[in-house]
Amino acid sequence: MTARLEGKVALIIGTARGIGKGIAQRFAEEGARLALADSEDEAGQATASELGAAFIRTDISVMASAEAAVRLAIERHGRLDIIVQNAGIYPWQLIENTSPEDWDRVMGVNLRGCFNAARAALAPMKAQRSGRMLFTSSITGPHVTSPGHGHYAASKAGINGFIRSAALEFAGYGITVNGVEPGNILTEGIQAHRGPAFIKTMEDAIPLGRLGSPRDVANAFLFLASDDASYVTGTTIVVDGGQLLPEGADFRILPP
Ligand SMILES: NC(=O)c1ccc[n+]([C@@H]2O[C@H](COP(=O)([O-])OP(=O)(O)OC[C@H]3O[C@@H](n4cnc5c(N)ncnc54)[C@H](O)[C@@H]3O)[C@@H](O)[C@H]2O)c1
Repeated sequence: MTARLEGKVALIIGTARGIGKGIAQRFAEEGARLALADSEDEAGQATASELGAAFIRTDISVMASAEAAVRLAIERHGRLDIIVQNAGIYPWQLIENTSPEDWDRVMGVNLRGCFNAARAALAPMKAQRSGRMLFTSSITGPHVTSPGHGHYAASKAGINGFIRSAALEFAGYGITVNGVEPGNILTEGIQAHRGPAFIKTMEDAIPLGRLGSPRDVANAFLFLASDDASYVTGTTIVVDGGQLLPEGADFRILPP
């Protein structure tokens, strides 16, 4: 532990498992005081108990729920320095099979969830004249996509646009706004939704030869949340093992 977040209060949304749990663990290691939020009560509580954090059941697609999570962080810890909106859903669905309700649900959690989190955290951060707003975007949408990701890709590209707009609007209050674009990260969600064949295909497509871990992504969030990133705003960090680099499928230089 190097205490890079000592004295900081962080609210992280989407922490019952996967990347969000990894962010919470990494921030706790670095001395942050945590409030955690997730739509899953039992698993969300379990992460919070493990880390000695406050927990609230939250549906981030609902503004009142985002506001309640911010209130919890401030009631427990007296201030709010960092908010991470990581909750996201990625149902595999071709556009021709996507109903308007399916579209709205993905947009509601992934994109409106980011607006809700930022809107709820704005007043306390504005009053403090400081704050870090961080969002989990993706390489899917801003850079690449594959069939079955119409709503998801649109939501994640939308997050990057929102990051730039919010960064500009909030800069005068000392609030920075940034995101992380994970590539393929081995989480419970990916294992449940994609399966072993997809994971093998991805391993073969990633120059570093493996899927990422939640900790790989959490380390980028840690940088953006820390004092080291005090002059960084309105941008995203790609954490993808080089997946975006190849021009074609045949990219490996095998050692002789
Ligand atoms: N795993 C990957 O390869 C990958 C790649 C790029 C981006 N991402 C993004 O990273 C984030 C986390 O992905 P993951 O793979 O860890 O997913 P996951 O499904 O393992 O975990 C997501 C967490 O968010 C919670 N959640 C879902 N809907 C919610 C809601 N409405 N309100 C509050 N919490 C809610 C879930 O309960 C869960 O704990 C998502 O935004 C996802 O789009 C993941």
